[in-house]
Amino acid sequence: MLQSRQERRGNQPCQYPVSTYPLEVREEGISIEYPSVCIKETLSGKGGIVDLWYYFHEQIDDAALLAAQEALMTLDEHARYRSYHFEHDRRMFVATRALVRTVLSRYAAVAPSEWRFLPGKYGKPRVAHPDVAPPIYFNLANTLGLVVCALSVAHESIGVDVERIDRKTEILDLADRYFSHSEVRALRALPSSERLRRFVAIWTLKESYIKARGLGLTQPLDQFSFLLDQEEIGVAFDESMADDATRWRFALLDSAPHHMIAVGADTGGLALSLRTAHIVPLLGNGLQG
Ligand SMILES: CC(C)(COP(=O)(O)OP(=O)(O)OC[C@H]1O[C@@H](n2cnc3c(N)ncnc32)[C@H](O)[C@@H]1OP(=O)(O)O)[C@@H](O)C(=O)NCCC(=O)NCCS
Repeated sequence: MLQSRQERRGNQPCQYPVSTYPLEVREEGISIEYPSVCIKETLSGKGGIVDLWYYFHEQIDDAALLAAQEALMTLDEHARYRSYHFEHDRRMFVATRALVRTVLSRYAAVAPSEWRFLPGKYGKPRVAHPDVAPPIYFNLANTLGLVVCALSVAHESIGVDVERIDRKTEILDLADRYFSHSEVRALRALPSSERLRRFVAIWTLKESYIKARGLGLTQPLDQFSFLLDQEEIGVAFDESMADDATRWRFALLDSAPHHMIAVGADTGGLALSLRTAHIVPLLGNGLQG
């Protein structure tokens, strides 16, 4: 059900329309759609803007398209690709490379295969080449069925995570291990039918924060807490975290039935202006790849 949001909403001004897939945030049964990515506005560097691109890669079985996506990778990426034992991991790896390369190329006049990346100290990849102005910041996440790329020009510290909602896990055990006391208390207070969704929400939000910081698991997961029983998603840091909660903004996107996505950004306190777009990298109608 790919349909241009531009078409559904009438022709809102954006120089580079992109096709989108309905991805919704749900709160007590209310669905709010995010606006579509507008590349020109993102490149203006306006504070708060974070674009979220997503690719349901398992829906694609066009061998020529998949081969073209694979051909975008560097020799190093090919080596990493071959090291994966399972076909689904290899497919997810290619999908992630194809996504980030084709998405970045929408924001700068650089061919998708030309981008080079370098990991930071704890593994967070960034653009290493070419130098583009303005600089583009991104973060990636992948899981079975869905890969996502959050991107911003305005904010360097952005993070994204995606998890499947339909997984079977011992949520209370995991929460006891990784969540803060207040998160565990709030989770246990919920009716059991609501716990899995709340658990995945907190998990993805925590990951989006640690990925935005780029410090990996050096950050103690139980020393910051997400507050979900209020109008805006809030975060509270223990003193040991030496971070300022007023700077951070988060969003949760529920692409039911299978996935939940969290985006986090240090916007310096500006409201998060999240835009979304679906993409099938290199699919050839000019709107998609
Ligand atoms: C690597 C990590 C950042 C996320 O790992 P993950 O959940 O397995 O994977 P995700 O899909 O969220 O993200 C993977 C992508 O993040 C990016 N990434 C890697 N290291 C990163 C870092 N330190 N910071 C930000 N992004 C990073 C990479 O692009 C990676 O994809 P790639 O290897 O295909 O390029 C790390 O934080 C981790 O191991 N987290 C899981 C630990 C955990 O216990 N979490 C509990 C939360 S309550």
